[in-house]
Formats: sequence, structure tokens, C-alpha cells
Amino acid sequence: MNAQRVPLSILCVDDEPSILSVLRKLLEEDYNVYTASNGLEALNILNDHEIAVALVDQKMPNMTGIELLTKIKDLYPNTVRIILTAHTEVHDLVDSINVGEIFRHINKPWEPDVLTDCIREAVLKFEQHRAIIKHKDEYEKLATEKANLEREIVLLKSEIEKEYSLDNIISISPEMNNVRRLINAASLSDETVLVQGESGTGKELVARAIHYNSKRHHKKFLAVDCGALTETLLEGELFGHKKGAFTGAVQDQKGLIEDAVGGTVFLDEISNTSLSLQAKLLRVIQEKEIRRVGETQYRQVDVRIIAATNKDLLEEVQKSNFRMDLYYRLNVLNVQLPALRDRRSDIPLLINHIINEYNQKSEKKIKSISREALNLLSSLPWNGNIRELKNIINRMIIFTHAEHLDIHDVPDEIRTGGLPTAQPSFSSDAGSFNFSVSAPKTMDELEKEYIRFILAKTSSNKAEAAKLLGLKRTTLIMRMKKLGL
Ligand SMILES: Nc1ncnc2c1ncn2[C@@H]1O[C@H](COP(=O)(O)OP(=O)(O)OP(=O)(O)O)[C@@H](O)[C@H]1O
Ligand SMILES: [Mg+2]
Repeated sequence: MNAQRVPLSILCVDDEPSILSVLRKLLEEDYNVYTASNGLEALNILNDHEIAVALVDQKMPNMTGIELLTKIKDLYPNTVRIILTAHTEVHDLVDSINVGEIFRHINKPWEPDVLTDCIREAVLKFEQHRAIIKHKDEYEKLATEKANLEREIVLLKSEIEKEYSLDNIISISPEMNNVRRLINAASLSDETVLVQGESGTGKELVARAIHYNSKRHHKKFLAVDCGALTETLLEGELFGHKKGAFTGAVQDQKGLIEDAVGGTVFLDEISNTSLSLQAKLLRVIQEKEIRRVGETQYRQVDVRIIAATNKDLLEEVQKSNFRMDLYYRLNVLNVQLPALRDRRSDIPLLINHIINEYNQKSEKKIKSISREALNLLSSLPWNGNIRELKNIINRMIIFTHAEHLDIHDVPDEIRTGGLPTAQPSFSSDAGSFNFSVSAPKTMDELEKEYIRFILAKTSSNKAEAAKLLGLKRTTLIMRMKKLGL
């Protein structure tokens, strides 16, 4: 036997102590042997220990061997059952042996070899059965996990689709009705789309809405900001590379376009691409093929391209910054997003939407906004469009201690009409809390700075800071932990 394995247990049941002692001697070298002199004792042992094989004498007072083995079959079906009988008894016992599904019967007196061989076979059967059960359990566990994950994926997908459904593009203005019609048409077609509009007008939102309402919705939507990377990096990102194509290319790597096969690639700020990259993008659209950096052969790819720009692309063509052929290829369907100042009737609805969005994510609940505040906000130029509106509303919510937004919550520089064109942010020196013009901030960044400011004001007294922020102390601590403060 393998010395490292825990020996399996054999239960021997006989009312004659001498037989039990012989059996123990014969088996104890290879197995863990339990003995019992009657059925009840045997059942107690089975209750406490996992028994691989039960070896039971037929002739015992109170409970016969067959009766005991039939009970064992019902209570511990994995224990393999063997009966010891006198030669003369076998004939009468055949039926009961079948009922008890007894593995073997051994005639008394037995040959030691016959008995040990029989036990070995029984143990093997026990182990095989145990392995099957273990695998079955594991398989069932995996199958359940898989089903749960699949359910979760379906749920997440439907949530994403809901988030980018047309219902989440908030508007009532006639200008946006036209955009909605175009989104619908673009979703039904598989053509390339060019989305144009000032910064913050919702170009990416529109691109996602087209993808998630199109037949490609179950495949990926991958966005790349063409202005954020150098030409070489952008090419590698989009097309992938062959191992050794440049220093650091330690293995073959597929690019974003291959990754999105079957789905949609969103090329944001397309006007920032070089003329040579534009030629490669033209090939993706026209020939539906790409070449990884460092490779010679082309690969077929089926992706839909949606591009966006906040520049006048035709003007870029006229200035020879943009290829005319690519422009016409991109511009098969054109969605022009109006600036927010040209669709002011959407502003109250958008504000309501932004407040609801915030309420859903945070403990702080804003119940209403005054008419004066709404009128003022609706009259502003909003050069940063919906992104800027969102920033300002979120900032107002963070700063207010009430459940209602009012005109005095509108930041000063906005109220006085001197709206900066860039995204405003604030500096957080301990004494004052002034707004200044700098790069756009995320909500987390804004919140972080504000908490820092309040902490500085309260000399790091969290209870006091929490009071000022209108939060529970524990909530403030949780928020600080999450924000890495
Ligand atoms: N009609 C709309 N309804 C609701 N939310 C909108 C709408 N339009 C834009 N948004 C929201 O405004 C923000 C800016 O939108 P998005 O990122 O799509 O703009 P963009 O035109 O791509 O901006 P940029 O040019 O700065 O990249 C996002 O948070 C978006 O969800
Ligand atoms: Mg964008």
C-alpha cells in the first residue's frame, strides 16, 4: 500500500470473538480495522466513522448479517458490503443477497488469500465510487457557478444596454429630435458614422447608443482617444504588434481593432491622427483589414467604425491636415450635435437627470431646485456643454448642506456671468475656498479636495468635519478611505 495514504476503514462484524481476532490480524497491516460483535454495535461505528467495506457474518443473534447489510445499504450506501456465510446457507440467501445489493459473499471457512483479494476489490470499488461522487460534486459546483456567472453577464449587459438606450439621452428640444432620428437610422445600418460637436455635447454617449442599439450590441464597444497617444503608440494600440517589432515587444499582441471584432471601435478626436495613420484607417474601412506593426501579412477584421471630432473636419481637409477620401468614408452617416446653448429647453431636464444620477449614487439626497436657480442656469452660455453643466451641478450638490439647491448654491463666477471657458475647479487652501480655472476634475477629485478643505478648517476633527459636511462620522471615514485620504 502507498505509505502516504490514510488507510481506509474496514468494519468486521461477528459474534465470535476468535473470528474477529483472526480478521483483525489478517487486515490490520493494510487497513484501519473496526470490529463489532452485533448489528447495533456495528451501526454505532458506522455512525461515527466512514467505513469503506463492511464484512459481516450472517449468523448472529438479534440481527442477521443480511438484515444488517440491508440497513447499511439504506443508511450508508457508499459502504461496500460483503457477507460471510456457511457453505450450506448460500442457497437460501440468494434473494436476500440481491435485495441488500451485496458485493460478494465469502464461504466459511475461507482461504486468507481469497478474503484479502475480495477486500482489495471491494476497496477499489469504494474508491472509484468516491472519486465519481467527488467529480460529480465538483462538476455540479462548476455548473452552478457557470450558470450564476452567465446570469450575471446577461444582467450586466442589459444594464449597460439600458444605460446607453435612447431613453438615457435626455432631451425634449426639436434640435435633439433630429439627432434621435439619426441615432435610430445609424443603429439600423452598419455604416461608418461621424459624430461632430463641441466638447461635452455627448459625442461618446451617442456613439455608445448607436452601438448598443445596433445588431453588434452583444460584441464589444471599444473607445480610443486618438489625441491622447503619440503616433507610434496609437498605431500599436489600434493594430497590435508582432513579437520583436520594437524594443519591449516581447510577444505578439493583438490591437484594439482585432479585440473589437464583431463590435464597434470608437475613434475619438479623429482629427488628431497623422496622415499615415489615416491611410491605415482607410484600409480598415475599405478593405476590412489590418496589419500588426512588424508583420507583413494583412488580417481580415469585421469592425464598425464610429469616429468623433470637435473640429470642423472639412476645414481640416481643406488645410490638408485630413485625407479627403477618409473624410468621405467616415462621413457616410453624420450626426451633428448641437451645442447646449442652442437647445436651452433641454437644460432643466438635464439638471433633473444629473441630480437623480447623483442621488442614486450617494447618501445625500437632493429633493428640489429653486426656479431662480433653474432660470439662471438655463440662461448661461455653457461653453463646456453638458459636461460642464454636470460638473457645476455636482459641485453645487457637494457644497450645499440642504436638500434643496438654490440660487446662492450657483458658484459666484457663474452667477455673475463671467463663466470661464475652461472647466472651473477650486483651490483648497485652509482659509478660503476659491474657484479657479484649471483642468477638468472628476467628482472623486472634487470631493477629495473638498473633504481636505473641511478637515483643514476643523483641524482634522472628523466629527466636526462630518457635521459640516452633513454626513455621519462613519460615512465620512468610509468616503476618506475610498478616496485614499
Ligand atoms: N443628452 C444627454 N443626456 C444625458 N447625459 C448626457 C447627454 N449628453 C451628454 N451627456 C453626459 O455629458 C457628459 C459628456 O458627454 P460625452 O463624454 O459623451 O461628450 P463628448 O462630446 O464626447 O465630450 P468631449 O468632446 O469632451 O470628449 C457625459 O457624462 C454624458 O453622459
Ligand atoms: Mg468624448
